[in-house]
Amino acid sequence: MSATAWENAKAWAKATSSIQRLGLREIPFTESPIDLNSDTLSRVFTGRRDELRRVFNLFQSRERRRILVYGRLGIGKSTFLLEVLSVLRRKRPKMLTTYISLPADLDLATTALIAVAQEMPENDWAQRQLYQMGIPTAKPIKERSSEAGGSMVLTGKISEKDVPITKPQYPAISLDILLEQAQKQHPDGVAIAIDDLDKQSPRYVRQLMHDAQGVLKGRAWFMLTGHPFGMTGDLLTSERGLFDLQLPLEEMDQATTYEMLINYLSSARLNHDCTDPDDPAAVLPFLPDAARHFCEVSKGKPRLFNRLGAQVLAKAAALQVDEITLAVLNRGLSAASRNLVQQAALKVQEKRVLALLQARSHLSDEAIALEDLEGLGVTTYSELLPILERLETADLAYRLAEDDATAFAPMPLPPAAEEE
Ligand SMILES: Nc1ncnc2c1ncn2[C@@H]1O[C@H](COP(=O)(O)OP(=O)(O)OP(=O)(O)O)[C@@H](O)[C@H]1O
Ligand SMILES: [Mg+2]
Repeated sequence: MSATAWENAKAWAKATSSIQRLGLREIPFTESPIDLNSDTLSRVFTGRRDELRRVFNLFQSRERRRILVYGRLGIGKSTFLLEVLSVLRRKRPKMLTTYISLPADLDLATTALIAVAQEMPENDWAQRQLYQMGIPTAKPIKERSSEAGGSMVLTGKISEKDVPITKPQYPAISLDILLEQAQKQHPDGVAIAIDDLDKQSPRYVRQLMHDAQGVLKGRAWFMLTGHPFGMTGDLLTSERGLFDLQLPLEEMDQATTYEMLINYLSSARLNHDCTDPDDPAAVLPFLPDAARHFCEVSKGKPRLFNRLGAQVLAKAAALQVDEITLAVLNRGLSAASRNLVQQAALKVQEKRVLALLQARSHLSDEAIALEDLEGLGVTTYSELLPILERLETADLAYRLAEDDATAFAPMPLPPAAEEE
């Protein structure tokens, strides 16, 4: 082993043992979506009982339905969809369920076609549709060659002349054909979850939804997600009647957030798995008051909760402690503050808006002073909205109330620590 490899191995061992000192195998908090087929999802998924019940009530009927799940950034829309799908997979094995994040520049029918075809690896026609779009298929495509009279196996290296790589010309028709085939093998039907409508421009999505009315009313169940202030807000009013259920996801209450902390920690705990909220051991390595404070600071927002949790545990490990007291928590949160700002890589103007937001502790069209606008070199509050939204994405700000979507407050974290 080289000297650096040896040093790296030592550093790895030290980091591992620091986490283990906290009684954990690894840091369970993550920002990335949880894999639908891993058992992590069922271990950490928390709350949303009412919302799940409302969705599953619909699934009691054979009638196909359309569901729109909407909520703020990082509130848990994707995770909610994945949980619905994973329950369906367990309880409704005769239903085909599929998940896809809406790709840029694709219509809804083609998106649904891709999602369904990917779940039908045994269906040659489905695989050919994917292949023609240049999407990797589960197994090699067999093509009948009339000259040779036999079958030949196509590989990814075939020239464009042989197999043109194009979107289907009539995606809605292709989707319908595929769904008809899928229903033969899946008598309980097909459920298609299309995530992230709001990652596209609102105008584009509005058109997309308008064009897709027929598809959405077709042979499958649809679940879509979006953000309430962008296009979904529009959809809620303009496409009234298109959705059978419009389901808002809100911030979790404190008790549910505490339960979520227990679930994440117990998914990584080394010994004795305790999940009783009345037992202080359930939140170890957090001491109960630190655990409660951590839940308050996360404001019931699952993504913020995960971002902060990862930083707090990393800090506790770096400090070589074996429990998280209020003092350790605060050091972790300061480190997290610094990290959120660093990760956001703010531009000068964004930093100035953040500083103003922190100084005023609340910004809205009514609350902002003329000299504040002048100081930022703008004339109207609405010019600041894109910046405030960017701060929201970075978990440095949040929107105050549903009825005024343009009022913002700074995320209440302890002041960022200096580099230690
Ligand atoms: N009910 C829940 N229980 C446990 N963890 C959750 C829950 N909801 C969300 N999370 C976690 O919070 C993080 C953010 O959730 P998710 O990605 O689903 O949010 P989102 O609303 O889809 O975000 P975006 O607006 O960026 O698409 C993820 O790490 C996810 O695992
Ligand atoms: Mg999402």
